Amino acid sequence: MKIILAKSAGFCFGVDRAVKKAYEYSNLKNIYTLGPIIHNQQVVDDLNRNGIKVMESVEDIHTIVDGTLIIRSHGISQEVYNNAEVKFNKVLDATCPFVKRIHRIVKEHSKKDYRILIVGNKDHPEVAGIMGWSYSNPMVINSVEEANNLDIEVNNKICVVAQTTFNTNKFEEIVEIVRKKVYDVIVFNTICSATNQRQSEALQIAKKVNKMIVIGGRHSSNTQKLYEICKNECQNTYHIETVNDIDFKEFKPDDIVGITAGASTPNNIIEEVIFKMTHNDHDNENSFEKLLEESLFSIHNGKIVKGKVIA
Ligand code: F3S
Repeated sequence: MKIILAKSAGFCFGVDRAVKKAYEYSNLKNIYTLGPIIHNQQVVDDLNRNGIKVMESVEDIHTIVDGTLIIRSHGISQEVYNNAEVKFNKVLDATCPFVKRIHRIVKEHSKKDYRILIVGNKDHPEVAGIMGWSYSNPMVINSVEEANNLDIEVNNKICVVAQTTFNTNKFEEIVEIVRKKVYDVIVFNTICSATNQRQSEALQIAKKVNKMIVIGGRHSSNTQKLYEICKNECQNTYHIETVNDIDFKEFKPDDIVGITAGASTPNNIIEEVIFKMTHNDHDNENSFEKLLEESLFSIHNGKIVKGKVIA
C-alpha cells in the first residue's frame, strides 16, 4: 500500500492560533469558549479536562461572570461581542484575522449603502457572525440555483463576500450570475488561501489514488467540502472522524491511498490513522519502512512530518 498524505492536512493557521490560545489560558480559573473551540470533539474533550468549559450563548447570562470568554476562530457578530464584553471580566478574541477582514469589509461597505451578499452556508456560525457586522439586512446564498433566483433590482449596490471555506469554482460561478443581474457589484473573494490550497491539493491527490480518506469532524463544513471534492474525483472516498471509523477490510495491499484532513483535525489523529493503516497492512512485509520510502511523509522524533521524505 502506498499512502500520499496532503501537506495541507490538519490545523490551519486560524484554528491553530485559537486552540493554542485556549491551552495557554487553561491554567486560569473560569475560562469558557463561546461554542466548541473547533469542530473536533477530541480536542473539546481534552480542553474540558483542562478546565475549559463550553458556553453555548451569552444571551442567557444575567450576571457578570468573573472569568474569561474565548471567541473561537469563526468569529461572532458585533452585537454578541458587545454583549460578551458586558458580561465577562475579559473577552479573548481568537477570531481568525481572515474572518476579521470580512467583518471589516461588511461593516465599511454596508455603511456606504452596499447591500451585503454573503456566499456561504447561512447556518454556519462564521456566516452568522459575518451577517452581524452589516448595518443593513444581508443576503446569504449557497448555490448557483439560489444565485439565479436572487431577486434584486438592477440598480442596487451589492457587495459580495464569501465564507472562508467556500468552494472557489462555485463562488466564481455565483459571482458571474450576480454581475449579470446588477450594475454596481463589488466583489471580495474572501475564501481563505489555506482552504484553496487544501482543496486543490486534495483534488490533485484524489486524481492519483484509488482510495481517499478525508479526516475531520462530522459538523466541520470545510471537511464536508473536502469530502465532496475528493468523492467527485475518486469514488472510493471515506469521511472519517477518527481511526475507529476505518473499515480496514476495504483496503488492499496494492491500494494507493490519499489522506487529507479538515482544518480542525489535530495532527495526532492524522498520525494515528497513518500508523493504523500501515500496521494493518500485514500482507506487505516491512510495510511501514516501505511506505516511508515511497510516500510523502517522514518520521522525525517519533512524529509524522508532512511533505517529501527528508531522511
Ligand atoms: Fe482562518 Fe482560513 Fe483557517 S480563514 S480559520 S486560516 S481556514
